[in-house]
Amino acid sequence: MAYQLGLIGYPIKHSLSPWIHKQFLEEANIQGNYSIFEVREDDLTELVQTIKEKSVTGFNVTFPYKQKIIPLLDDLDPSAKHIGAVNTVLNKEGRLIGYNTDGIGYLRSLEQSFPGLTNNKQVNILIIGAGGAARGIYNALHQAGYSSITIANRTIEKAKGIAQNPKSAILTLDQAEENIATFDLMIQTTNVGMKPNQDDSPIKIDGMKSSTIVSDIIYQPIWTTLLREAKEKGAQIHQGHSMLLYQAQYAFEIWFGLTPSLGNMNSQLKRILE
Ligand code: ATR
Repeated sequence: MAYQLGLIGYPIKHSLSPWIHKQFLEEANIQGNYSIFEVREDDLTELVQTIKEKSVTGFNVTFPYKQKIIPLLDDLDPSAKHIGAVNTVLNKEGRLIGYNTDGIGYLRSLEQSFPGLTNNKQVNILIIGAGGAARGIYNALHQAGYSSITIANRTIEKAKGIAQNPKSAILTLDQAEENIATFDLMIQTTNVGMKPNQDDSPIKIDGMKSSTIVSDIIYQPIWTTLLREAKEKGAQIHQGHSMLLYQAQYAFEIWFGLTPSLGNMNSQLKRILE
């Protein structure tokens, strides 16, 4: 029997998920197919019902359905409940359970690239942005024990809604720029710098320490303006494609209960995106 997996979204013809999951299936020696379910909103309910009846093992959800899918599911994992968005669904004996892999996927990709961080939970972290991705990342870092997390966002109220540790500072983007030299790790989660506005950066990093790690979760383009500027300043950088891979790895784990190895997929994906 071949397991059925897939991706729901619109438009998704250029998604990298089929490429990633086909390699995971091969690596795990599992017979399966990963399909693209590109649907208009009017057809979403019917598609989800069909998927459930056809015993699809699980599927990913992307733009624009990460929230719209929620009422069509039977239950939510705490990660999805907390973030209010679902990007992975498990069909557990006919019950559809929604998960969000943003936080864990990001944390794994970060700690894999910078193993020293796991022993240094006091690093001063700045998260730029306060959308769904920022919420997941804040939560994963907070739960992993990172104790100094500042959130900077254009809209202050949204940043306040994310901070679970009362000691977390909330800043405007201007204030974050003024304090830029105090951060050891900067995580860019807004869509500023994404195609087609790829010349923009949400923050100026002129006074940044050269030892800072600058991380951007955008992977198209893989070299955002922020990352280029950071590299020029001698900072260590962490590119967005790595989160994409680890999120997919965690989704695979949710579906099959095993963790596929990434092999050399990180460098392969980097070459595809560059
Ligand atoms: P996601 O789910 O991908 O995190 P989102 O929930 O739409 O996306 O969040 C988008 C983030 O990008 C928010 O932090 C948003 O700032 P606001 O909360 O002020 O809206 C940020 N963002 C989007 N456009 C921006 C811009 N031009 N300048 C600064 N921040 C921007």
